Amino acid sequence: MSELMGIIKARKSIRVYQEKPLPKNVVENILEAARYAPTARDLQELEYKVITNKAFITQLSDGLSDTIQKEGMPLKGPPGVKLDFFHGAPLVIIIAAPKDNYWASADAGLAVQNIMLYATSIKLGSCFIGMAKLIERDKNLLNMLHITDNMNIVAAVICGYPAENPEPKEKKQTAEFFE
Ligand SMILES: Cc1cc2nc3c(=O)[nH]c(=O)nc-3n(C[C@H](O)[C@H](O)[C@H](O)COP(=O)(O)O)c2cc1C
Repeated sequence: MSELMGIIKARKSIRVYQEKPLPKNVVENILEAARYAPTARDLQELEYKVITNKAFITQLSDGLSDTIQKEGMPLKGPPGVKLDFFHGAPLVIIIAAPKDNYWASADAGLAVQNIMLYATSIKLGSCFIGMAKLIERDKNLLNMLHITDNMNIVAAVICGYPAENPEPKEKKQTAEFFE
């Protein structure tokens, strides 16, 4: 198995993290991995909101809980209890893109996969956080993230030192071959 195939297969979503910040150079390398992902028409319009401030991460997660409760969406756990949507990770990266960029979600997915594979290669945990999209419903949080009216949240990912080692998920074979 090639080294890259090993990393691809070793990646898994991690939802429990050690209380340990990531060194600045590691955060920079994670962003470097994202930067080298392809973008449609090479527009390179993704904006990365790189959040390592614990209080800010809690504020974003609490804001998500409030939004979900306000909008009557089903939320796991007892009512009134705030969930940690970022699973205690020391690094949250929220990716925003112009609303008129048709391919932004694909661009962001590729960037997140680069991040997750790089994180796996240096023994960090990671997880895509689709729920972060709901931050869009809270103007105050958008302002805090400097996400302007012309931008959408297209993806989010967390990284950190893992504090769990879940079994990897079985992956279905869904290819159909036309030979
Ligand atoms: C688009 C997308 C959105 C996701 N959103 C969340 C999320 O909000 N919270 C979470 O804990 N995991 C989230 N995940 C992680 C998936 O639940 C996870 O990838 C899936 O269960 C497969 O497990 P694996 O990543 O370990 O292979 C998301 C994954 C993707 C691809």
